[in-house]
Amino acid sequence: MSSTSLKHQITNQYPIPWSMSRAEQATLIRVLQTIKPKVAIEIGTYNGGSLQVISEFSDKVYAIDLTPSYRDKRCDDLSNIEYLIGDSKRIIPELVSKINNSDEVVEFILIDGDHSTKGVLEDITKVLNLIPKQPITIILHDSFNPACRKGMTSYNYNSNPYVHYIELDYVTGAFNHDGLYREMWGGFACIQMQPIKRTEPIAISAYQAKLFLVTYYRSIHFFKNFFWFLKPIYKVFKK
Ligand SMILES: C[S@@+](CC[C@H](N)C(=O)[O-])C[C@H]1O[C@@H](n2cnc3c(N)ncnc32)[C@H](O)[C@@H]1O
Repeated sequence: MSSTSLKHQITNQYPIPWSMSRAEQATLIRVLQTIKPKVAIEIGTYNGGSLQVISEFSDKVYAIDLTPSYRDKRCDDLSNIEYLIGDSKRIIPELVSKINNSDEVVEFILIDGDHSTKGVLEDITKVLNLIPKQPITIILHDSFNPACRKGMTSYNYNSNPYVHYIELDYVTGAFNHDGLYREMWGGFACIQMQPIKRTEPIAISAYQAKLFLVTYYRSIHFFKNFFWFLKPIYKVFKK
């Protein structure tokens, strides 16, 4: 195989543009190939890049986004998707309640919607109200972004007996991501729920905690957070 075909291997197979790194794309494909979910949920569809893969390996997908306007026309060829348009904070509680009271078996969830700390925490809190009938694998995109990561660490996992695993750096993220000056984005966190209740306390694992910290102190996020008190003065001068 030539290096050119290796470069385009995933793109050739999944043509809808995708807001994820090569490592993330390869991991998502592999995870889904392994699980073959009966039901999957995606929060944050955008143009359908990740959805085209979730759709291929799942029997049914609920795809949630604020707007359908970004969606690529090629998504119309995917037949197993129910689109739920609106804010995930409103949609997820309704969906979770419906699924908990039915025989639908959710086995995979991608959280990639609201990227604020509060938004990520709310999506996690609402999704983790699912009562697992089979193991549920939850992938959370952008765990390397400080605001998203804070949302991911803010949930009290010990309060939920169905959570058996939390890894913030299942796939490590990137610095200067897509040329964004000193910004930290990307990365997969992974949460696993099991139908059996956990009896021991659980801790959040962060395989690349040191890499995250070293990078954070060189990032634009650190400077913005550190000099937050200068923001009102900056706004005055900007006028
Ligand atoms: C980064 S994009 C998703 C990319 C996509 N998963 C992929 O990899 O191709 C984030 C999407 O989340 C949606 N979004 C943001 N906040 C949301 C919310 N509160 N509820 C539902 N969708 C939201 C945005 O409209 C946007 O399309």
